[in-house]
Amino acid sequence: MNGICAGRVVIVTGAGRGLGRAHALAFAAEGARVVVNDLGVGLDGVPGPDSPAGAVVDEIRTAGGEAVAHGGDIATAAGAESLVAAALDTYGRLDTLVNNAGFLRDRMLVNLGEDDWDAVMRVHLKGHFLPLRHAAAHWRAETKAGRTPVARIVNTSSGAGLLGSVGQGNYSAAKAGIVGLTLVAAAELARYGVQVNAIAPAARTRMTERTFARTMAAPDAGFDAMAPENVSPLVVWLGSAASAGVTGRVFETEGGRITVMEGWRPGPTADKGARRTPAEAGETALKLLAEAAVPGAVYGA
Ligand SMILES: NC(=O)c1ccc[n+]([C@@H]2O[C@H](COP(=O)([O-])OP(=O)(O)OC[C@H]3O[C@@H](n4cnc5c(N)ncnc54)[C@H](O)[C@@H]3O)[C@@H](O)[C@H]2O)c1
Repeated sequence: MNGICAGRVVIVTGAGRGLGRAHALAFAAEGARVVVNDLGVGLDGVPGPDSPAGAVVDEIRTAGGEAVAHGGDIATAAGAESLVAAALDTYGRLDTLVNNAGFLRDRMLVNLGEDDWDAVMRVHLKGHFLPLRHAAAHWRAETKAGRTPVARIVNTSSGAGLLGSVGQGNYSAAKAGIVGLTLVAAAELARYGVQVNAIAPAARTRMTERTFARTMAAPDAGFDAMAPENVSPLVVWLGSAASAGVTGRVFETEGGRITVMEGWRPGPTADKGARRTPAEAGETALKLLAEAAVPGAVYGA
């Protein structure tokens, strides 16, 4: 198949449904061979009887593309290692990793149990780190063998991680952590030919179907603005060789809109050149806050 990903091998985690499925189909339509990972869990992360990955592989093959299923848990070392091995054993190469798998355990902080904290941190943060680490080790070995790759990683953050979201303390912390991981990975892996970016998507999936009801499709847009398929084109471009030079960036993407998110940067500042008393520190902080931009509202506040 022709397309901007012709010849590339792409892993998409959590690609059995929702955004990951849309990404996998979009990569295949642009000529990539795709490893479709999905453990097949419920909305709260509890494993179900079947992985939906095989059905997505069937869809890709029916459309004339190439894909293979992987049903492992990306938040385990064995799952992440076998995922990268699936790409190398099946297709002999790996070019792009899209970290997407995840689930929610929403609670207000005072009711948030330790299990719900751990499960969400594990699937999102560890579930990004482990595939990234195993893919990066492969790309480092390629570089050392004189075959510096044109490799890409696309991570999945969220508006919740960028602005915070009421009732999602665990999820917001994990998704903010993914931005930090993205920045470090972009800096560390550049020498191995790897670009690392993150998206903060919004789309109607089983995770958000109550938030983004079908009626939210913009009436004048002429298309279903909250369809997951609207998010995938940017992911495919970031995952292709065409995005050369773009790394360490975060994009919000939803419907027909793409926004570059501008992260933490120094605002108003004052240096006394000596230690302050707490009262002086407070006086300075209030003066600087009066000059500073007002932060975006926390979702749901
Ligand atoms: N839908 C949105 O509006 C939205 C907004 C912001 C961020 N996100 C993020 O986008 C990503 C995809 O979300 P979605 O809305 O498509 O959800 P979804 O529930 O439709 O799909 C997630 C998939 O990940 C799989 N999965 C979960 N844990 C796994 C594991 N340990 N190993 C392998 N697969 C696993 C699930 O089985 C599921 O098929 C998530 O990281 C989510 O946090 C979504």
